[in-house]
Amino acid sequence: MKILITAGPTREPIDPVRFLSNRSSGKMGYALADAARIAGHDVRLISGPVTLSAPDGVALVQIQTAAELYDAVHEAFPWCDACVMAAAVADWTPAQVHPQKVKKGDERWMLDLKPTQDVLTSLIPLKGHRVVVGFAAETERIEENALRKLAEKQLDMIVANDVSKLDSGFAVDTNRATLYVTREAPRVLPTMLKSELATYIMQEVERLLTPG
Ligand code: CTP
Repeated sequence: MKILITAGPTREPIDPVRFLSNRSSGKMGYALADAARIAGHDVRLISGPVTLSAPDGVALVQIQTAAELYDAVHEAFPWCDACVMAAAVADWTPAQVHPQKVKKGDERWMLDLKPTQDVLTSLIPLKGHRVVVGFAAETERIEENALRKLAEKQLDMIVANDVSKLDSGFAVDTNRATLYVTREAPRVLPTMLKSELATYIMQEVERLLTPG
């Protein structure tokens, strides 16, 4: 099968030396790419800036901003059978990028931010028979938020995790997730290595791709 995976954070430039980003390390998305490749799939990985190396045999597309991620996903989506969006995409980006470094002063600086486009929502009309999986990074009301995202983004599955917990947060090697598959009971998983969770998620994707 052809599997498209996104990973890591995005960086939204403010000026030539500053950007807005988030704590994503890319570990979960890279573990997914590795698990998909080991399972024998053809893998494309669209990644924000991280310190990880792409697994051998995985086609890597590097992006910086949410807008670049959007374009790269739309370029690859028609090719894929399944898309797993593990990237932590910025929800806002500076309304203007300053062409020169903004100099410090005594005044407050109010950054004007505009919303980015939601990539998963934009894929709804293009979905066809593809399996589309999202992640929900939450700090509160995890089930409620995950189920809302599952429905609103018309996903086949969402992997929810509490990013305020030490064993399921950013940049650690473990994750404690709950899987919500449309029309199925939630599956609360124990704390696992991200590599183990990635294998589990890929098996679910394979099951959802198999008709009947
Ligand atoms: N996502 C996306 N495009 C965005 C933001 C998020 O496709 N602009 C995807 C993420 O890759 C993830 C899912 O949507 O698979 C949920 O992301 P998350 O950050 O948990 O939720 P948001 O939809 O951004 O909502 P909020 O930040 O309000 O929780």
